[in-house]
Amino acid sequence: MENIIETNHPLIQHKISVLRNKNTGTNEFRGIVDEIGMLMGYEALSDLPTQMVEVDTPIETCLSPMLAGKKLAIVPILRAGLGMLNGVLSLVPSAKVGHIGIYRDEETHEPHEYFCKLPSHISERLIIVTDPMLATGGSAIAAIDLIKQKGGKNIKFMSIIAAPEGIKKLHEAHPDIQIYVGHIDRELNKDAYICPGLGDAGDRIFGTK
Ligand code: PRP
Ligand code: URA
Repeated sequence: MENIIETNHPLIQHKISVLRNKNTGTNEFRGIVDEIGMLMGYEALSDLPTQMVEVDTPIETCLSPMLAGKKLAIVPILRAGLGMLNGVLSLVPSAKVGHIGIYRDEETHEPHEYFCKLPSHISERLIIVTDPMLATGGSAIAAIDLIKQKGGKNIKFMSIIAAPEGIKKLHEAHPDIQIYVGHIDRELNKDAYICPGLGDAGDRIFGTK
């Protein structure tokens, strides 16, 4: 489907397998989520505009491409999206960072928003929303609804593991945004957890239960 990009890179697939393992501890889990954030960010930012600038090399003066000053915002969905933030920031350290707090009700699986703070001039920015898990799609749709209400237009969403149901729902709600996923898993279970998945991403990143 247009606008849905599933990465097949062996490094990302390998790292996802380590995340899936229930014996992977908090420290290693957190480090790998960070690395995948960087690798997926590299792909999601591959269409950043550049402009030719004059550079004096030790040999001569040449024209060479540099980023065209595009304003960027990275917006993790709290909590688990925070795990991917530093990986993306390491590629674009001058990006501004917004935060959207959303949790899923354990019974209804409906998203509940509890925090939103976005950088200024949001309508002029390329916005990268991060969340390792796209399950029913409710949290991602709510976050992107909110960003659009506040003026955001140019939005990409990055998640490590997605359920087919969540991708479909997110794409139907926001067909204009590009969705980058590390792997599309089989299905959701009755508790709306992704199967085979990796469990509760927030708890595994932060060591909570
Ligand atoms: C998880 C995950 C997503 C959401 C995905 O967050 O990080 O935000 O669930 O589920 P959905 O697609 O069905 O909405 P959770 O609500 O567990 O909050 P947490 O990150 O604070 O643990
Ligand atoms: N949130 C998670 O952290 N994991 C899932 O499998 C579904 C939602």
